[in-house]
Amino acid sequence: MSDKKQLILAIETSCDETAAAVIKNGTDIVSNVVASQIESHKRFGGVVPEIASRHHVEQITIVVEEALKQASITFEDIAAVAVTEGPGLVGALLIGVNAAKALAFAHSKPVVGVHHIAGHIYANRLVTEMKFPLLSLVVSGGHTELVYMPEHGVFKVIGETRDDAAGEAYDKVARTLNLPYPGGPHIDRLAHEGSPSYNLPRAWLEEGSYDFSFSGLKSAVINTIHNAKQKGEEINANDMAASFQQSVIEVLVTKTVRAAREYDVKQVLLAGGVAANKGLRAELEEAFSSLEGVRLVIPPLSLCTDNAAMIGAAGSILFEKGKLSTMALNANPGLDLEC
Ligand code: KG4
Ligand code: ZN
Repeated sequence: MSDKKQLILAIETSCDETAAAVIKNGTDIVSNVVASQIESHKRFGGVVPEIASRHHVEQITIVVEEALKQASITFEDIAAVAVTEGPGLVGALLIGVNAAKALAFAHSKPVVGVHHIAGHIYANRLVTEMKFPLLSLVVSGGHTELVYMPEHGVFKVIGETRDDAAGEAYDKVARTLNLPYPGGPHIDRLAHEGSPSYNLPRAWLEEGSYDFSFSGLKSAVINTIHNAKQKGEEINANDMAASFQQSVIEVLVTKTVRAAREYDVKQVLLAGGVAANKGLRAELEEAFSSLEGVRLVIPPLSLCTDNAAMIGAAGSILFEKGKLSTMALNANPGLDLEC
């Protein structure tokens, strides 16, 4: 890099976290501020888009100022403003995109639109140098994908969910077990107290497919719980959580290992909110410990769930490649990762 240091101000507002961060040279976190709205959405059992937008409006200026303050810099020190352009909730994305454009315009800085999933993958760049070709298992509330990357900024989705995302299935199953939103961490906790004694399906799909499907598994859990209720039988929530978790993890790990072998990758990067899952982390570590030539990278918990540091890491690559956005940048809830 020609510059001695390149500072990117990054903004993320695609769902229920208002976040801003300052990233140095695409790899170092200088500041990383996240204002979570989870408490406001909890009583509704999920994210309410209108409430999310209102919180983002209230928080965005505070969070950006805090990120700059913690980094001990001003707007003049930054090279560009990176922002999540999509996918996500349109009303939530709009707040971040407009804040980024206003700041960039006011301070004559370029703005860079970033794909949210690219951000999740690039959280790993804050952990270690990315080595290509690589494979990323992206497991979040809205996405479950196996993404092949031959080089920086190039994404090929080799498998994806045909119905529910892994996180979505976790949240729905948690709801059925009367656990609070977001349910993933609660199921994870219960699973470690129980044993996988319920017989639940695994959706392998057609031979060779890297796609996923979790709605059948989710329905099987819900049906088992309802049937037990009707018969007046008790469900062991710990055992159900353990059974559900085992089914999800078995499919995720098996397909990831198979794809890593077939594509002969140097690294496998775990990404997305479900990457915080202790069971998944442990099973992947176990599976990849015996696979030679492939290094498994797992981000710390704080970089798995939504944050702006990851958007800065991904945005820095676009900035370096000269892939800048214009002031016509708009929120794009259906943004494609591959283009
Ligand atoms: O990536 P993320 O913060 O937001 C999206 O982009 O969707 O992911 C949120 C999802 C939620 O579904 C949440 O339940 C799940 O990640 N999650 C977990 C765990 N921690 C968060 N799922 C399973 N186990 C966990 N420990
Ligand atoms: Zn996310």
